[in-house]
Amino acid sequence: MPTYLIQSEKMSSLGQLVAGVAHEINNPVSFIYGNISPADEYTKNLFSLLDLYQRHYPQSVKAIQEFADLIELDFLRSDLPKLFQSMMMGAERIREIVLSLRTFSRLDEAEMKRVDIHEGIDSTMMIIQSRLKGTDQRPKIEVIKEYGNLPLVEYYAGQLNQVFMNILVNAIDALEDSLVISRWTTKKRLKTDNPRIYIRTQLLTPNQVTIGIADNGLGIPEDAKKQLFDPFFTTKPVGQGTGMGLAISHQIITERHGGSLECISQPGVGTEFIICIPLIQQRQISNP
Ligand SMILES: Nc1ncnc2c1ncn2[C@@H]1O[C@H](COP(=O)(O)OP(=O)(O)OP(=O)(O)O)[C@@H](O)[C@H]1O
Ligand SMILES: [Mg+2]
Repeated sequence: MPTYLIQSEKMSSLGQLVAGVAHEINNPVSFIYGNISPADEYTKNLFSLLDLYQRHYPQSVKAIQEFADLIELDFLRSDLPKLFQSMMMGAERIREIVLSLRTFSRLDEAEMKRVDIHEGIDSTMMIIQSRLKGTDQRPKIEVIKEYGNLPLVEYYAGQLNQVFMNILVNAIDALEDSLVISRWTTKKRLKTDNPRIYIRTQLLTPNQVTIGIADNGLGIPEDAKKQLFDPFFTTKPVGQGTGMGLAISHQIITERHGGSLECISQPGVGTEFIICIPLIQQRQISNP
């Protein structure tokens, strides 16, 4: 059985799981998201009522005054809108993540379809966002996007997203390895040499799209470069890498999309993977 078939089986059950979870989260988040604005509105009204009381009954009794001091009424009043605002931001963020999970899994779009490549890359980035964050030991990984003006491309969205994911995760792994040999300790790094990932897209010829994903990690030695796309080739410790990521990506791009996947790398400088896919798939040209 070809590897990409096994992989597409795995992807479709992963896709189903992801889409299922996203769907389940969507409902409760909608409750929160939908209720914050009215809750904010209601409290504003209650405060206005309080103002009215204060204006018409300025001599309040001692117990009321004491309780107002106890709950720090003035502070509460200035803080509450901020609380609502940060709840709103949190809920919006969850909604964005749920949307990305849905775009990523594309359960409803297992067929070849015209899709926005940038949307696919962005939703994949969103999923691996947490691995870009800086820590005490290393600066954050900067992502520099140069998106060209692309038309919608015919492709298997879920599978292509899987390719973006494999290549991006490899780039992050490579940048983290560079860290191990202390290229980017927070103390002695040069400002111009932060860990970076570059993503550029371009319309190459009237019917060819290229997507380049580059990193300024340690690069790939010449002898390893020859085996990159071989199944089970990995330089990662046992249990960490299966060595299947690039083999599968290569199959998805070449066999399923009629494109090409190439690697350019200079040891010590960085690595770039270049995906080329035709705008209109061969399959459709031959079967009008
Ligand atoms: N951006 C990169 N920089 C340096 N080396 C890379 C890069 N991308 C891939 N490699 C090398 O290619 C090897 C194969 O990559 P591949 O994605 O196929 O497998 P893997 O990452 O080791 O395991 P997994 O199956 O989990 O993806 C990696 O082990 C690594 O040595
Ligand atoms: Mg990999």
